[in-house]
Amino acid sequence: MEQSDISDDLTTILVTEQEIRDKLAELARQIETDYAGKDVLLVGVLKGAVMVMADLARELRIPLSMDWMAVSSYGAGTKSSGVVQIRKDLDADLTGRHVLIVEDIIDSGLTLSWLLENFASRGAASIEVCALLRKPEAAKVHVECKYVGFDIPNDFVVGYGLDFDEKYRNLRDVGVLAPHVYA
Ligand code: XMP
Ligand code: MG
Repeated sequence: MEQSDISDDLTTILVTEQEIRDKLAELARQIETDYAGKDVLLVGVLKGAVMVMADLARELRIPLSMDWMAVSSYGAGTKSSGVVQIRKDLDADLTGRHVLIVEDIIDSGLTLSWLLENFASRGAASIEVCALLRKPEAAKVHVECKYVGFDIPNDFVVGYGLDFDEKYRNLRDVGVLAPHVYA
């Protein structure tokens, strides 16, 4: 059998591995300044944010903790339903904590706005969001996101944690999936 390369399934590369690395370093410097003297809790949203979390956390030179939450709002489709279900809750108690939510992508914003409300009710001292990608044209609700990597067009993207049918998360770049993959 011939070896296939998953990067052949992309039509366009939107953000390269190097661009991601540079951007996370830039965001990390801002975060270090903003959280100086504070103990920050990074909350990664599974599974998409795994790569961002791993790379951002290693860029940061301030004391931090990491926790994870798994939610689902999608079902099998590629459109957010707005109905969010907790699949794995946080281990940490948020009372008095400075929480920085780490997200792969803000699409409609529905998942994040639900999360922000949910976290606010748990008594966090502060809650901010860091998202690697954002699709401004897809926004259904406004969410305040203090740290944004890249604004991208309203296409379904994969790579660097983002999947199609659980695949492509291991691509190093972020790109648009080729039509032949859907067929
Ligand atoms: P919403 O629409 O609630 O989306 O802002 C939140 C979650 O949906 C996933 N998502 C994507 N996953 N390619 C993906 O692989 C995409 O283009 C895409 N858009 C949204 C993602 O998990 C995000 O956190
Ligand atoms: Mg996600």
